[in-house]
Amino acid sequence: MVAPSILSADFANLEKEVKAIAAAGADWAHVDVMDGHFVPNLTIGIPVVKALKKVSPIPLDVHLMITEPEKYVADFVKAGADYLTIHVESTKDPATVLRQITSLGAKAGITLRPGTPVESILPLLPLCELVLVMTVEPGFGGQSFMADQIAKISVLRSEISKKNLKCLIEVDGGINAETAKLCHEADVFVAGSYVFGKDYAQAIASLR
Ligand code: DX5
Ligand code: ZN
Repeated sequence: MVAPSILSADFANLEKEVKAIAAAGADWAHVDVMDGHFVPNLTIGIPVVKALKKVSPIPLDVHLMITEPEKYVADFVKAGADYLTIHVESTKDPATVLRQITSLGAKAGITLRPGTPVESILPLLPLCELVLVMTVEPGFGGQSFMADQIAKISVLRSEISKKNLKCLIEVDGGINAETAKLCHEADVFVAGSYVFGKDYAQAIASLR
């Protein structure tokens, strides 16, 4: 699956952009939420997710890069997040937040910074429908792919098959037609600058 990150879209025309990526074959719209604390950047929040939900033909895959996500997950689910992913480093009790997301009716996801060992999230996989491997330091679009993160995908793939889990593996950061090949064990490919920087349908097809 392909999930273009609307972080690289034209923010003055988000309705047009989300409809355009859907028409171009995108499976999900990836929405990057940043709070200026967990990452050194500010992007968008609950009102934008709510507005997008009204017009998006495809599911919203919301990536929370915020501290204390437990304070906001209910509002994000209410606003229309289909998948809601939290960072393992962002809260004292990720398991409780993941259960909270599921009980609210959304699909829970876990992710980690490049510097965080993959072992830190393995016990959480049974609580998730999505696990996201960051292949850049979270915070900005348009950065270079970190090849040293690929090994995490293999570890997750074997854990998921060993324990027969239903978790999808997603990869995010510096993804283009070349780097996507290196991540062939993943299920979902997030791409921001690559998709929005060229013909959307062509970019999405090349990732597939
Ligand atoms: C980075 C975000 C990514 C970002 C990807 O913190 O999580 O989703 O938008 O952008 P590209 O594909 O340009 O690396
Ligand atoms: Zn993201």
